[in-house]
Amino acid sequence: MSDAGTTTSELVADLVALLGPDGWLPPDEIADRLIDFRGVFTGTALGLARPASTDDVAAVVRLCAAHGAAIVTQGGNTGLSGGAIPSGRRPTVLVTLSRMNAIEEVNIARSTITAQGGVTIQAIQDAAAAADRLFAPDWGARGTATIGGGIATNAGGINVLRYGTMREQVLGVEVVLADGRVWNGLRALPKDNSGFDLKQLFIASEGTIGIVTRAVVKLHPLPADHRTAFVALRSLSDLDALFAMARAHPPGALSAFELIPEIGVRQVVERFDVVRPIARVADWYVLVRFSGMHGIEDDLLRMLATASDEGLIVEGVVADSAQHEENLWSLRDELTATRSFGGFGVKYDLAIPPDRIEEFLALASDAVREIISDAVPYAFGHVGDGNLHFTVLRPDGDDRGLEQRAPEITATIDRIVWDLGGTISAEHGLGRELRGRIVGQKPSVEFELMRTIKSALDPHDLFNPGVMIPDP
Ligand code: LAC
Ligand code: ZN
Repeated sequence: MSDAGTTTSELVADLVALLGPDGWLPPDEIADRLIDFRGVFTGTALGLARPASTDDVAAVVRLCAAHGAAIVTQGGNTGLSGGAIPSGRRPTVLVTLSRMNAIEEVNIARSTITAQGGVTIQAIQDAAAAADRLFAPDWGARGTATIGGGIATNAGGINVLRYGTMREQVLGVEVVLADGRVWNGLRALPKDNSGFDLKQLFIASEGTIGIVTRAVVKLHPLPADHRTAFVALRSLSDLDALFAMARAHPPGALSAFELIPEIGVRQVVERFDVVRPIARVADWYVLVRFSGMHGIEDDLLRMLATASDEGLIVEGVVADSAQHEENLWSLRDELTATRSFGGFGVKYDLAIPPDRIEEFLALASDAVREIISDAVPYAFGHVGDGNLHFTVLRPDGDDRGLEQRAPEITATIDRIVWDLGGTISAEHGLGRELRGRIVGQKPSVEFELMRTIKSALDPHDLFNPGVMIPDP
């Protein structure tokens, strides 16, 4: 056996001895963790470490550092940029916090929850609701995605419009550092001007500088009432006017505003147990939710009546039961291109100023069709934040040619996004997918600063090599 092989087998033996039989899974038992949700990124690992405590995480880090192995921490493996799949640069230990899944405290007086990194988003939402509070982050993968992963990626979703991203929900974190030290920053102070706000470095760090083992997150008042409407737009050019109206009539009522295309509705209704919400077939629909501390149904109906009088919407329905509302939102949850179309697509998670969405779609659709004449641009998402999930698909799910032309498509669209003042990564992070492409978006000094932070906190590139941070 080679030296490297000996070292690796020693490392595995040490990890098994440390974590016990429940704490280690060999590569042949973790196939589903070595491929990403979209089936685009694959990786290899020495195995999966399943530490049950922060001390165990720290010990795993020290062992890997001593043996020169890399560490990739994986939450629910629902990320869409390949950030939690080992890049194969070095022998890698995959780490999951799935055994660290305790909600340690629900503090009603402070409106906070303290949770271990492996707790799912759904479990935190449920614990908050049981305490008559709201944990705001919410997206389709809520039942699988974890708080540790959500913090590491600064996850977004449908409630960002009102409550902000994960970044705004985190009051404190506990992090295992690259040298095995544990930083307990679990403070829950809304105001704390005592130097650098170090927790922010770890939020959206994509596992490159530490492992978030615990967090204190903020809860909001649980809205007493909420109503969702599904409306057909007369034309995409009315999107901005409808958004302005929903935001202003009355101010503060709007809590979600999601754009949905007809091809998405058609596909989801065919594939999943979801009912077409309205008979009218239009090119574009919007899912609007109002919520507040008083009855808001009348507010929503008034806004929709005005939108209809002004000709912005041509038909709509307001959910009249919890089940009806759930049907509308499950339609939204299934829109992800992988879920609704499967197969290969050139995927974007872009953001541009909301008033330029129509312009973007026109420019991008023309550009894409110039490269592949029958390619289908598929767009949906959080347009209230200017965040569009945009995927270039083949009309019949046939991938031939698309993969080959992907670099041309991405170069063209990246440029359009930047020319419109946008970003090619709004909420899914850079992962392995965008770390090279992002270089065109920002001044090089920003990447130099990122590399400075990385080398200060993780000088031996232990954590997630080949992810997020572009090479010099
Ligand atoms: C969504 C994922 C793709 O919004 O971010 O459905
Ligand atoms: Zn999204």
